[in-house]
Amino acid sequence: MKKITLQGATETFKKKFKKSGELCERGSKWIPGGYSRHSLTFGPHAIYVDHGEGKYIYTVDGHRLIDFHNNFSCSVLGHNHPKVREALHALVDRSFSFGNPMEHEHRLAEIICERIESVEKVIFSCSASESCLSAIRIARANTGKNKIAKFEGGYHGMGDEFMISLHPYPYFFRGPAEQPIGWPNTAGIPSHVLQNVVILPQNDLKNCERILKDNAKDLAGVIIELMTSAGGGIVMEKEFVKGLREITEELGILLIIDETVTLRTDYHGMQAGYGIKPDLTVMGKVIGGGLPIGAVGGQEKYFRMHETGKIYHSGTHHGHPLATAAGIACMEVMDEATCNRINKMGDRLADELNKWSTAKNYPLCVIGRGGHLGYELTDKPGRRYRSCRDMLSYSNEEGMAIIAFEMANRGIFPMYRGLIALSEPMNDGDIDLFINTAKEIIEGIFAE
Ligand SMILES: Cc1ncc(COP(=O)(O)O)c(C=O)c1O
Repeated sequence: MKKITLQGATETFKKKFKKSGELCERGSKWIPGGYSRHSLTFGPHAIYVDHGEGKYIYTVDGHRLIDFHNNFSCSVLGHNHPKVREALHALVDRSFSFGNPMEHEHRLAEIICERIESVEKVIFSCSASESCLSAIRIARANTGKNKIAKFEGGYHGMGDEFMISLHPYPYFFRGPAEQPIGWPNTAGIPSHVLQNVVILPQNDLKNCERILKDNAKDLAGVIIELMTSAGGGIVMEKEFVKGLREITEELGILLIIDETVTLRTDYHGMQAGYGIKPDLTVMGKVIGGGLPIGAVGGQEKYFRMHETGKIYHSGTHHGHPLATAAGIACMEVMDEATCNRINKMGDRLADELNKWSTAKNYPLCVIGRGGHLGYELTDKPGRRYRSCRDMLSYSNEEGMAIIAFEMANRGIFPMYRGLIALSEPMNDGDIDLFINTAKEIIEGIFAE
């Protein structure tokens, strides 16, 4: 087995995706870095796409890659799905931007309310970032309190309150694990925002309870992902989430579950598997079928202030007809059987790679749930972790970069930092392909 080095993998990547590199450079003349999303950077540069079809993307460099990225999990139907395309064409013929509402919004809201037990009313925006901001506005308005709590390693978009103590470096995780200190991930966060955000440790109920009690009189809401996405696929444990629900209820703090990503892992939302009801749920990605969208939903009582106009909610493109039409089509294809089939493929992928790495004594750990998984090369075989802080502390960063480059070099497109999302057109053969490629790369990394 030939050893795979970071240098070799990077050189092959740069050669294979040369045109993408050139486009990034050209784009940098007008856009810092060449494109408007930092998260698209894949090592030295992003991979530019020409088009997508089904489970594949076709890059400007002339390569076909099987897409395990799927726009950070949002393209759950893969690319150019006929049902979504039909819905968009039908609308485009009638024009697509009005100072009037259209009916699509109703149907999408109805689907969401039917599927997610805790949601009785919904409001849309253009991104989950905006909907997270709406959710905390609702929490503040309904409780009359100012602060919000978020988890270390939790990602909720680019609002000031949320760009604190994220990832991908342990550098951002300050203070002891049981009493994290909020730290901004970006320049430009006003100091008063930092003072209004309380940081909680993942899967640590005892310390969460203490911190929440200490701040209860000021805390409007707690926002949490049941499985982190950008933060590496850390799944919140059942007892932990149940405990959090009880404590927040007792202290008069709204529990906001951010299901932007996790909604796709269960027909009724991931919350259904926990047997709890949050006060508010944030949604995005899958509910827009690949177009820009965000939503926040919850019990009717939390939306009365919208009805009376006490809470103002507006935006030129909120509930955009194209996004809601695509969202309806996507949600209709994502019926219960389809969700379950995708989840089963993902569970097998995780299970087989974990069994293999244990048997071979490789320091690889695959976590997550269903069709959305995280993999991490850690410091030693058998390492398991329950929080993003743990994961980043034990991570083999060089190994993670090699896996990303080598996957792309071999025709697979994962998210850069160890995340994958399956899509509806995939089948068992595609899962085998991923498993076997991962094994080859890891054997190559650890070859003598
Ligand atoms: C859990 C979670 N919340 C919120 C967001 C922000 O969504 P958007 O990119 O639509 O603003 C994301 C994006 O990846 C996310 O993963």
